[in-house]
Amino acid sequence: MAEYATSAAGMNVPAIVYGTAWKKDDTARLVTLALQAGFRGIDTACQPKHYNEAGVGAGIAASLGAGLSRTDIYLQTKFTSVSGHDPARIPYDPAAPLRGQVAQSFATSLGNLQTSYVDCLVVHSPLPTAAQTLEVWRAIESIIDVGGIRQAGVSNCYVLSTLQALYREARVKPAVVQNRFYAETGYDRDIRAYCRDHGIVYQCFWTLTANPEPLADPAITELASSYRRTPAQILFRYLTQVGVVPLTGTRSGAHMREDLAIFEFELTEPERDAVTVLFAG
Ligand SMILES: NC(=O)c1ccc[n+]([C@@H]2O[C@H](COP(=O)([O-])OP(=O)(O)OC[C@H]3O[C@@H](n4cnc5c(N)ncnc54)[C@H](OP(=O)(O)O)[C@@H]3O)[C@@H](O)[C@H]2O)c1
Repeated sequence: MAEYATSAAGMNVPAIVYGTAWKKDDTARLVTLALQAGFRGIDTACQPKHYNEAGVGAGIAASLGAGLSRTDIYLQTKFTSVSGHDPARIPYDPAAPLRGQVAQSFATSLGNLQTSYVDCLVVHSPLPTAAQTLEVWRAIESIIDVGGIRQAGVSNCYVLSTLQALYREARVKPAVVQNRFYAETGYDRDIRAYCRDHGIVYQCFWTLTANPEPLADPAITELASSYRRTPAQILFRYLTQVGVVPLTGTRSGAHMREDLAIFEFELTEPERDAVTVLFAG
C-alpha cells in the first residue's frame, strides 16, 4: 500500500489501518491474513476486555521474514485507564500512580507484541480531569524520549477544547486522534479541522457500522455504480482523499482486498464535494 498520511511528527501512517478489536482467539490468524493482503498499519490496545494484544504480536511474528520486516509495519497500541478495563483483567497495578500504570501497560504491550518499540501509543480516552490526562501524557513523553514510542495520540476525544488543552500543554505534541465517525458528533468537523491545521492524523472507526444512511445515499451509491465499487469502498476512498485514515476490522479476506483496492481509483474534486455534503450536518 503506497498511500500514507503524514503527521507533524514526520511519521507516515498507512492511509487505511487494520483494527484488531473483538477477534479473540482468531486475532493472530486475522492479523497474518491482513498483512498478507497488504495492510501495513495495525491498531490494537492493551485492553484484554476488547483486544487480544498477544494474538496481534503472534500474527505479526508469524508474518515477518520473507520480504516483511518490523519496520515495514506501523504498529499502534493504546493505554487504557482503569475505568476502561474489566476489573478482573487490568494489565497493570490499578493502585499504582498513573505514571506507573502507563509504564506497566507499555511493558506489557512490548511483551505481547514481541517488539522493542511501538510506532504510536494512543491514550484510549481522555481521563476525568485535564491534570490526569496530562500526567499520562508526561509518562508517554518520557518513553518517547528513550525511543520506546515513535509518536503518541488520543482517542475518544470529542471536545475540541480537551484536544486543544492537551496540545497546548504537551511537550511532544499529539500526532494522532482516533474517534468514532458518526452524526452525533457532527462527524467531528471541528476536531478534524484542528487536526488538519496541526499535523495530527485523524483516524476513524464505526465508519461503516454507524453510517448506513450515507452509505445508501445516491451520492455514494451512484459513485459505486460508476466506479464499479461497493459503497463501503467509495466511503473509505473518500475519507482517505480528505485526509482521514479509516480503520477497518473486517474478518473477511474478500473485504480486506476490497478495502485495500480503494487505492486503485480516485474520486474527482466535484465527486468528493458531493460526498462531503452527506457529512456536513
Ligand atoms: N479507540 C476506540 O475506542 C475504538 C473503538 C472501536 C473500534 N476501534 C478500532 O477500530 C477498528 C474497527 O472497528 P469498527 O468499530 O470500525 O468496526 P469493524 O470491526 O471494522 O466492523 C465493521 C463492519 O463492517 C464490515 N466490513 C468491513 N469492511 C467491509 C467492506 N469492505 N464491505 C462491507 N462490509 C465491511 C465488517 O464485516 P466483515 O467482518 O464481514 O467484513 C464489520 O461487520 C477496531 O478493530 C479497533 O481497532 C477503536
